Amino acid sequence: MKKIVFATNNKHKLDEIRKITAGKIEILSLSDIDCHDDIPETGVTLEENALIKARFVKDRYGFDCFADDTGLEVEALDGAPGVYSSRYAGEGCNPQDNMRKLISELQGKENRNARFRTVIALLLNGETHFFEGEIPGRIIDEKRGAAGFGYDPIFMPDGYDKTFAELGDNVKNTISHRAIATQKLVAFLMNNASR
Ligand code: IMP
Repeated sequence: MKKIVFATNNKHKLDEIRKITAGKIEILSLSDIDCHDDIPETGVTLEENALIKARFVKDRYGFDCFADDTGLEVEALDGAPGVYSSRYAGEGCNPQDNMRKLISELQGKENRNARFRTVIALLLNGETHFFEGEIPGRIIDEKRGAAGFGYDPIFMPDGYDKTFAELGDNVKNTISHRAIATQKLVAFLMNNASR
């Protein structure tokens, strides 16, 4: 069976993709290949960061590999926090700090449009491929809901009057930016890597 590394140790992301590829492709995590390095995310775009992580694994460990990077892009803030979403309120900040900062940056701004965007970079058989998923929505001023993580309590996807944190994982994982990008990746892998 073809083995591919997913450059993450996030159990939720690994479980999700392993369920879909079971019996066809073996997905290895970073710890499965004994990679315990802190891979630098020095890119200024999601594409660059995803590629940096995938190349790191390919160059040092020799495995075909894919990696993802996600950002929240807010229209009224010219796409910020974008690639800096995890550390928007500064190094060592937590999701509460990030949400507080975002709400304060948007004070007095009417345009609340935003989107989550995920980019996956895949290095397979000497070629590079990108897969993208996005979901449009808007940012609200007060946190609602307890599920999910990151900016979920203040992001309301278009077509719903609930935040990601109120909708819960089951709904979120069928419509999310990451779900869309992952579905594209899996379809490609099933056709090109399951031999
Ligand atoms: P990562 O590239 O998956 O590590 O995501 C980078 C950052 O984007 C996270 O630390 C979160 O702040 C934010 N983020 C990514 N995906 C989501 C999501 O599904 N909901 C809320 N925030 C997210």
